[in-house]
Amino acid sequence: MPGEIPATLNREEAVLYAQLDPARLPRHIAIIMDGNGRWAKQRFLPRIEGHRTGVKAVRNTIRMASDIGVLALTLYAFSNENWKRPRHEVDFIMMLVQRSLCNELPALRENNVRVSCIGRCHELPTSVQDVIAMACEGTAQCTGLRLNLALNYSAKAEIADAVNAALRQRNGSPAPVTEEDISQHLYTRDLPELDLLIRTSGELRLSNFLLWQAAYAELYVTPLLWPEFGGASLLEAILDFQKRDRRFGGLSMAAEAVAAESSGKSSQ
Ligand code: FPP
Repeated sequence: MPGEIPATLNREEAVLYAQLDPARLPRHIAIIMDGNGRWAKQRFLPRIEGHRTGVKAVRNTIRMASDIGVLALTLYAFSNENWKRPRHEVDFIMMLVQRSLCNELPALRENNVRVSCIGRCHELPTSVQDVIAMACEGTAQCTGLRLNLALNYSAKAEIADAVNAALRQRNGSPAPVTEEDISQHLYTRDLPELDLLIRTSGELRLSNFLLWQAAYAELYVTPLLWPEFGGASLLEAILDFQKRDRRFGGLSMAAEAVAAESSGKSSQ
């Protein structure tokens, strides 16, 4: 029932949820999961321990997004640029993605979560591609949260791919490519508009993530390192989102009313 606190929430989460307007949830939330390495360093642990603990944060965040009825959640799990990291770290992240998807598949299905992936996934190791295919096919009938994993993802590559796909579709027509053409060929074309983009670890950068889609998304940066993020943190980000006045280049409701009143007066 709308407005009812989901039974799965703990006390802290329930208190936060009670302050939300469930009718105005962001439809699509994307997260730059940053700070695993720093989290590990603070604890004198190897970087990979940060990634390992980061998976728990992934699980808690998905659970919360699913429980409260967010439509889509895009997680930046591996960028094109991440190949520059030491080989053992790259291998470890690939193993984590593979193992997490395998282990979590039954729970994802039980919770009606549909998995999809964006990025140049055909360049990932074959074993990872196989598990991705299994997770996407195994959840294709799910109608709840859309969990969209960005893997080997680069926003600039996505825009280039979209422009090329749009050009191919025009069959040599000289008509210019429009913004609409590009939007229709983005990897995220079947997802709701991006409403909220979260970044952990306090960095103020988009890091080549969803550059087109972020045009009018609300940005939320938290100093928490990714392994420290969880269900309550997601609710705090949504509460902050709900305080924003989204104008999309126009005027706020209040300013519109003043403008309408003054133009009414001037035309009288
Ligand atoms: C950024 O922290 C984190 C990553 C590049 C990897 C994130 C991947 C996971 C948590 C595994 C994801 C698994 C699934 C199933 C989605 P960083 O290493 O850049 O941290 P730093 O900036 O502190 O060094």
